[in-house]
Amino acid sequence: MVDIHCHILPALDDGARDEAISIEMARMAREDGITHVVATPHSNYQYAFDPEVNRDKRDALQKLIGDSPVLLLGCDFHLSYENLEDIRTDPGRYTINGLQYLLVEFADSGVPPSMDQIFFDLISRKLVPIITHPERNPLLSRDLNLLQKWIGAGCFLQVTAGSFLGRFGKHAEKFSMSLLKHNMIHFIASDAHDTVSRPLQLAEARRVIAEAAGEETANALSEANPRATIEGRALPWRPELLPIVQERKWFSFRG
Ligand SMILES: [Fe+2]
Repeated sequence: MVDIHCHILPALDDGARDEAISIEMARMAREDGITHVVATPHSNYQYAFDPEVNRDKRDALQKLIGDSPVLLLGCDFHLSYENLEDIRTDPGRYTINGLQYLLVEFADSGVPPSMDQIFFDLISRKLVPIITHPERNPLLSRDLNLLQKWIGAGCFLQVTAGSFLGRFGKHAEKFSMSLLKHNMIHFIASDAHDTVSRPLQLAEARRVIAEAAGEETANALSEANPRATIEGRALPWRPELLPIVQERKWFSFRG
């Protein structure tokens, strides 16, 4: 499996506190069956983002853990004005493995009114936005229609593996299942921050997905699509979206 979103690099943001934690996270990933990990430090108002520092930390950690898992670089790209301006000049600073895919993180507080235009701008510059964990966002996790519109425009969705295991509450778990039933998820990722509450593991969520949606889907979300992303290929798994009207019969937003 390939994990495209995690905070494994030490002492950079709210992820791994020190090298010992990073090494333990890498060990857990290896045992879980993860071969490649994209280290995606935050770039937001709280944490500065410096690709040179990230590269040095990645190289140092790779030396410490050996060949597996392979560590690549990306960014947990917050939708700030500064980030959106900066990515115009040098997108490779932020994209996954310096290629075309970009994690995009929304604030909990609101969706920018110009969001359609922002996605259009990114896509017209040959970048491919991957919206991170909509199931954990208070606004996005109530709007399947909005998310379907953005998928139709060329975005993809990444759900946090722990959401399928109830680690982010009942609503996130139900909404993740709802996204899955509508063929709206393209990736699961750990978004790991530590070894305990937010571990670098995908296998358990993969099993839940296989039970709910079949082995082919579970493989696509944890292996085929994320591997295409780190290699800069088109996603092999882009199923047709299912109409939302069907879902309302069994999904309740009250959960
Ligand atoms: Fe993250």
